Amino acid sequence: MATKRGFMSMTVAIAALAVIIASVSADPSTPTLVKTVRGKKVCKRDWECAEWSKYCCNHTISDFFQTYQFEDLFSKRNTPVAHAAGFWDYKSFITASAAYQPKGFGTTGGKLMQMKEVAAFLGHVGSKTTCGYGVATGGPLAWGLCYNKEMSPSQSYCDDYYKYTYPCTPGAEYYGRGAIPLYWNYNYGAVGEALKVDLLNHPEYIEQNATLAFMAAMSMWVTSPRKGVPSAHDAFVGNWKPTKNDTLAKRSPGFGTTMNVLYGDLTCGQGDIDGMNNVVSHYQYYLDLIGVGREEAGPHEVLTCAEQVPFTSSPTPSASS
Ligand SMILES: *[C@@H]1O[C@H](CO)[C@@H](O)[C@H](O)[C@H]1NC(C)=O
Ligand SMILES: *[C@@H]1O[C@H](CO)[C@@H](O)[C@H](O)[C@H]1NC(C)=O
Ligand SMILES: *[C@@H]1O[C@H](CO)[C@@H](O)[C@H](O)[C@H]1NC(C)=O
Repeated sequence: MATKRGFMSMTVAIAALAVIIASVSADPSTPTLVKTVRGKKVCKRDWECAEWSKYCCNHTISDFFQTYQFEDLFSKRNTPVAHAAGFWDYKSFITASAAYQPKGFGTTGGKLMQMKEVAAFLGHVGSKTTCGYGVATGGPLAWGLCYNKEMSPSQSYCDDYYKYTYPCTPGAEYYGRGAIPLYWNYNYGAVGEALKVDLLNHPEYIEQNATLAFMAAMSMWVTSPRKGVPSAHDAFVGNWKPTKNDTLAKRSPGFGTTMNVLYGDLTCGQGDIDGMNNVVSHYQYYLDLIGVGREEAGPHEVLTCAEQVPFTSSPTPSASS
């Protein structure tokens, strides 16, 4: 099922890269193109919000989140002890977002919500790629984007249950890679289909290309994992309307539910455990650094999933209420 499509030829790739660099260093306030389709205003903003969409009409991410802020959030990522020094950069983040901003990523609901969503997404990224520990210089939260892959995988994460849909390629290893790390053949297969990149045969592309690594994470962020479960994006910005069952399960729109969507019972419904607090702390730290302030994160029950019934367990909300 995975789409077989290789990368562009080398010459095309180099030419494309040159164009991207030129646009990034150009005036950030590139003009917005506007047109009306069936009575609705849609816009496109050059390379950053690259498809006609209503979401491209207002602020785009680079209006409120710039290189210096990315450097602030991930200030230790290029130190010699960091495991992916030189890999992650702002340009990759914005380039990756060009395909997702027209879908509403970082472009929904006005500037405050937009800034909060970028902080939320990066909060997940930072907490999953950190090598910070208690006594790390700059504090443990300054070490996001330290890794781009799992260092000592204990297995190759090939699940034979998916041998017909997402068969493992002999010799390929599906260990954790990326910004919100991908694990397992079926996840590489599904995200590869979404991105039209053959990740099932080439999982290593994720650790070789920061734009692709960010795109994979954004794809997970905007995609509902299965029926009855919202995307993290919809859960965060409030597009998702909880059902009665969700309400009984204490799942409400906000950051807490994004953890439930992405990690389920690994992180949620277990009270204030370290794994959950680590994601929350990164989100709060980034809210402070980008100038929103952690008080905008909302109350404990919205910010965490400590008391939520995980989406991954069977829907029996009465058991916990
Ligand atoms: C863009 O901004 C206008 C005016 O603030 C607002 O009414 C509209 O909902 C915004 N569009 C989107 C897609 O957020
Ligand atoms: C990195 O991945 C992106 C998205 O698939 C692609 O457009 C770009 O050409 C890749 N860069 C390199 C150097 O292969
Ligand atoms: C709600 O939960 C009940 C009890 O677990 C279940 O039988 C029902 O199918 C659920 N409804 C939806 C819409 O998920």
